[in-house]
Amino acid sequence: MTIDALGPFLLYTKSLHVISVIAWMAGLFYLPRLFIYHCDVPRGSAESERFKVMERRLYKQIMSPAMHATWMFGILLVLTPGVIDWHAKWWHVKLAMVILMTGFQGACSKWRKLFLEDRNTKSQRFYRFANEVPTVLMVIIVIMVIAQPF
Ligand code: HEM
Repeated sequence: MTIDALGPFLLYTKSLHVISVIAWMAGLFYLPRLFIYHCDVPRGSAESERFKVMERRLYKQIMSPAMHATWMFGILLVLTPGVIDWHAKWWHVKLAMVILMTGFQGACSKWRKLFLEDRNTKSQRFYRFANEVPTVLMVIIVIMVIAQPF
């Protein structure tokens, strides 16, 4: 199903999609890094409270709106006539990676709440590993949409 009225706005919708993606990625790259630093400071310390404020602002003011905007403009692109070829395999791989990225954001939200309540039990090593996940997903997504290998 497509909506003809979206046709003339294609390039603007795509621009807004990519702008939202950039903001979302910035948050996804930075929040796990804040968790890495947060692991280093004692619970209840002034630094820990400062990290909580930084994590809340990053999540609520940037990551969450940017993720919603990415999905909204992405769905508008899907609904624009002539954009999606449902037979192309790359599109399904992209969609799967985007769903994993959204799931990763859900995990970040859970970890942020644990830090907020001084209940984090995960190690710095765990967050260092988690920090790589959005990078790997982003590389695959960009190769899918730009190179469209299959
Ligand atoms: C959240 C769900 C998403 C949906 C529904 C979606 C959907 C779309 C659609 C339909 C297009 C147009 C494809 C075309 O013109 O051939 C597009 C373009 C694009 N998307 Fe997404 N996308 C999503 C998330 C993302 C994410 C997370 C990234 C990057 C990490 C991304 C990166 C891009 C790029 C770079 C383009 C421009 C490709 C080009 O035409 O040169 N998208 N997206």
